[in-house]
Amino acid sequence: MVNQTGKATLTFGDKELELPIYTPTAGPDVIDITKLYAQGGVFTYDPGFTSTASCDSTITFIDGEKGELLHRGYPIDQLAEKSHFLEVCYLLLYGHLPTAAEIDDFEYRVTRHTMVHEQMTKFYSGFRRDAHPMAIMVGVVGAMSAFYHDSTDIADPWQREVASIRMIAKMPTIAAMAYKYTIGQPFVYPRNDLDYASNFLNMCFSVPAEEYMPNPILSRAMDRIFTLHADHEQNASTSTVRLAGSSGANPFACVAAGIACLWGPAHGGANQACLEMLKEIGSVDRIPEFIARAKDKDDPFRLMGFGHRVYKNFDPRAKVMKQSADEVLDLLGIEDNPTLQVAKELEKQALEDPYFTEKKLFPNVDFYSGIILEAMGFPTAMFTPIFALSRTVGWISQWKEMLTDPGQKIGRPRQLYTGDTLRDYVDVEKR
Ligand code: SDX
Repeated sequence: MVNQTGKATLTFGDKELELPIYTPTAGPDVIDITKLYAQGGVFTYDPGFTSTASCDSTITFIDGEKGELLHRGYPIDQLAEKSHFLEVCYLLLYGHLPTAAEIDDFEYRVTRHTMVHEQMTKFYSGFRRDAHPMAIMVGVVGAMSAFYHDSTDIADPWQREVASIRMIAKMPTIAAMAYKYTIGQPFVYPRNDLDYASNFLNMCFSVPAEEYMPNPILSRAMDRIFTLHADHEQNASTSTVRLAGSSGANPFACVAAGIACLWGPAHGGANQACLEMLKEIGSVDRIPEFIARAKDKDDPFRLMGFGHRVYKNFDPRAKVMKQSADEVLDLLGIEDNPTLQVAKELEKQALEDPYFTEKKLFPNVDFYSGIILEAMGFPTAMFTPIFALSRTVGWISQWKEMLTDPGQKIGRPRQLYTGDTLRDYVDVEKR
């Protein structure tokens, strides 16, 4: 729901246009340019959409200057401390914190959708054992629409609801199966007696040969990582899911598109790239060399885990993640983990370097998450699948919001064309 609070006057050539201004409940005003081409015959130009609001949304608000992240108004640090991932899923999906009865019902429904169709296990054997788990997840999630025909009609609210529950419930199973497949161990079925995070750790780390019970501190840290990655406004992968959904594609296809986008090292792939960078640095005495490279305009190297399109202050998720990193490594007795030492010293040196402070390049959510995941025993290739598992609820919540927007239409950006103008075909003998 948007309300006009003013007008902007745009004057160019012989035209003078009045464009509505809307004031949000938080954040900058927006100028509505939907009629600009029809009335003014011009496009706006904003590659990367740095100054463009693609939709109106009630789900997540980010203030990059303040380093603030709210889910339905609740700050991420309070949710990370007091809530748990499935409750945050409920909040993102339905807009309010659930009563005890509501969360019990929601957790019951999610728990009873955690198994995948047994036929889906056949997909995995088609991949090489060294396939990247993200390649497997893109394929298997996209294929879900071949199995769950009773939840692909996006016009049916009940089918949208079932598809949402199925996606949230099955992503841990699909991700854990991708991990098990790459290490040659048997798939482990979900267990309904375990909470969401413990069930994921069990599916990843238990083996038929012996009993496995996840350590409650590791389960809590895992749940917190899920919570911190759940949604993040109109980031690249969420915008991908919205655009795919705007064509009427089924929810499984839309989430598969989001997984593909998240894989990139500038986005969700940064946690894997960050840990690989920390390992390449190897020791604190090599940090200055890498900081110099990150500052060198002629060197494409960037400090993975630093910087953000929106946060020009500390990423509030990184602060919470840093606490969890200390707790997990302290529990595992590896607080002197060389990778963590390099991470802490790199953060210290970068935050004292004017290049980073002036460009507002602070550690982001990916900076510490990789350290925790590695300490838990995950290979770096599993970091982004875990990010995708967590972000599924954000993608689905935003997808549902888009579909129920009365003004919803297929997304179709235009362009600034700089190619050749009209010219006639030339036969090959005359070229
Ligand atoms: C995520 O959008 C989201 O919300 C994403 C996310 C989510 O939850 O969905 O938060 C998750 O993707 C976090 C970001 C993870 N990516 C990385 O850690 C990769 C490293 N970071 C950079 O690639 C970069 O900071 C981006 C892509 C994150 C942001 O890029 P911007 O906003 O386009 O910044 P920029 O490229 O315009 O950089 C501004 C300046 C440039 O220098 P100048 O050309 O102005 O001289 O800062 C420099 C850049 O060269 N710069 C860096 C840097 N990031 C930016 N220099 C060194 N190291 C870096 N990491």
